[in-house]
Amino acid sequence: MAAKLRFFLNIRTKEQIFFQQHQTFHFSLFAFHFFFVPLQPQKQHLFMKIGNIEFGPRPVFLAPMEDVTDIGFRLLCKRFGASMVYTEFVSAEALIRDVKSTLQKLTISDEERPVGIQIYGRDIDAMVEAAKIVEQAGPDLIDLNFGCPVKKVAGKGAGAGMLQNIPKMLEITRKVVDAVKLPVTVKTRLGWNHEQLIITELAEQLQDCGIQALTIHGRTRSQMYTGQADWTLIGEVKRNPRIHIPIIGNGDITSAEEAQQAFDTYGVDAIMIGRATFGRPWIFKEVRDYLDQNHGDRSDCAKLAEHCGPVPMILDFNAKLDILIEQLRINVERIDEKRGILHTRRHLAATPIFKGIPNFRPTRIAMLRAETMPELLAILEDIRTLLTQ
Ligand SMILES: Cc1cc2nc3c(=O)[nH]c(=O)nc-3n(C[C@H](O)[C@H](O)[C@H](O)COP(=O)(O)O)c2cc1C
Repeated sequence: MAAKLRFFLNIRTKEQIFFQQHQTFHFSLFAFHFFFVPLQPQKQHLFMKIGNIEFGPRPVFLAPMEDVTDIGFRLLCKRFGASMVYTEFVSAEALIRDVKSTLQKLTISDEERPVGIQIYGRDIDAMVEAAKIVEQAGPDLIDLNFGCPVKKVAGKGAGAGMLQNIPKMLEITRKVVDAVKLPVTVKTRLGWNHEQLIITELAEQLQDCGIQALTIHGRTRSQMYTGQADWTLIGEVKRNPRIHIPIIGNGDITSAEEAQQAFDTYGVDAIMIGRATFGRPWIFKEVRDYLDQNHGDRSDCAKLAEHCGPVPMILDFNAKLDILIEQLRINVERIDEKRGILHTRRHLAATPIFKGIPNFRPTRIAMLRAETMPELLAILEDIRTLLTQ
């Protein structure tokens, strides 16, 4: 009983433990000892945990993103302090059919841990089989995608399409949890549309299926990526006293200040950043430094240095350009010249480091049209010379 209780307490967050400690004062002295005493030697568990994965204060995750969060990009984000990274979503059906390009998406490296592999699908048995295959690849957790809004996925009942078939979503979740030993987590949205904002009840149902963390993107499926993410419902889920699993908030975080606000205002256990990482993997350092300074806890910085070697304290234009060039080289090496360049274009187009350069448009067009490494590298070096002259 005591062991069970300790386990129960371990997976609670700092705020909930605080809340619980205070609640216990209303119980009998026996209850006080029962709840409070086992907590004393377990201070290391005061921060968020998913299964056995321990995070420091205010963790910042890299969002799973198709065609973006490949191994090269994940490692870069990790270097700059991402607390957890995810693969892009992987089709359960394709995994079972042994599709080579899909199997390649399961490649992970020890350096990027903790890393989650995310799967999606509409068939219960396929999802269970895929989860077993994924488990063999050795990630730290398996994430189930119930949030992808695109027609080719949600239109077929997978991803956010599951928001229209909650019994099936819950059955998949329950069966996957039972089928694997790894922690299973879910990423989803607020609901299908504004008439069906079901996340508060859904969070409880998913928790009851045995998931160990829930990521909520503060949009509905109907919104796709338009409008603004609504964090109020994410905060409501977090404040629900029935919820004891970590809640990871996601949507529209683009700066360290917004990250801090998400923690302070909505009390989430972790935040997840997606699009703001394009051409800016160092955003994790910006956010981490800011959060740690304002939270008075540098432990994650120490952990980061230990894990990844020294990261320059100040990243100037040259350092950032070097990082983008490194990313380009990694992609070309990993795929091939043509597709590696194509793969990096999204980052070159979005990076903030070229913003505000006078008369940049022709250079930008040339940069985004370049098809060979020498051509692209020459353009990037010209920009460097121009800006550092
Ligand atoms: C290009 C792109 C690909 C994405 N692919 C995935 C995916 O594979 N799995 C997933 O759960 N979400 C995916 N998403 C959604 C993001 O994980 C995230 O929920 C969304 O972008 C909102 O966060 P943000 O405002 O920080 O970008 C994708 C988003 C984008 C822009």
